[in-house]
Amino acid sequence: MLSSWDNRRDFIIADDPIAFAAEHWVHTALRAVQQRGKFAVALSGGSTPKQIYERLAEKHRDDVPWDKVCLFWSDERAVPPDHAESNYKMAMEHGFGKLPVPASQIHRMKAEGNLDRAAADYEQLIRRELGSHLFDLVMLGVGEDGHTASLFPNNPVLEEVTKLVAPTMLPETKPHRLTLTFPCINQSRLAVVYALGQNKTAIVPMALNAAIKSPFPASRVGTDERKSLWVLDKESSRLLNKTK
Ligand code: 6PG
Repeated sequence: MLSSWDNRRDFIIADDPIAFAAEHWVHTALRAVQQRGKFAVALSGGSTPKQIYERLAEKHRDDVPWDKVCLFWSDERAVPPDHAESNYKMAMEHGFGKLPVPASQIHRMKAEGNLDRAAADYEQLIRRELGSHLFDLVMLGVGEDGHTASLFPNNPVLEEVTKLVAPTMLPETKPHRLTLTFPCINQSRLAVVYALGQNKTAIVPMALNAAIKSPFPASRVGTDERKSLWVLDKESSRLLNKTK
């Protein structure tokens, strides 16, 4: 059962978080298709989404009208689609390549070449395909430093207020990346942060307890109008004190 963390975030501590996340994904998709005729989802990289994609392909093939599903990405590294670090490649190889989503509805975030151009092109695509309601679901993870999508601590892109997509980078590493911005994430209908396992035990309470503009970008996911959902497990929620 979902619990309310505060006015911007709900959370659930699931016994089987991957099964829960996949069922919740299916439920969100069915509701969107019923209400608006299609389901637009932004997929994330990371180890948890990978397991969710695998579960969708293995257990939910017959539960979703895949011809009504439109795939986008929350963030991407500046690499070609067949590169080992590509989030597109990961999502396709770990689930969506086995599901009958029409190729014309798979909108890879192209992050090669000029990144400002690529960000503007992806934003134009999102606005054209989705209009002002943006995504039905934005899938996100959280890093041990509090990053989400490719929104890293202390990066100027955290303060973006108009653009939906922007280039970003980790100063110490390459490749550069493209990411959805907070205006995009928080104007979408639902953002879900999947934070599982013991390497998330420290960051989960820090991100949930911190002020909205804390050093942890993940603290900014969710608004009073559009609450986000944090999917947690026993390990990641171990230090969470609901009484604060
Ligand atoms: C990526 C992600 C990134 C990820 C977090 C958590 O492309 O790597 O978008 O934000 O979600 O780093 O990753 P894990 O789920 O692997 O811990």
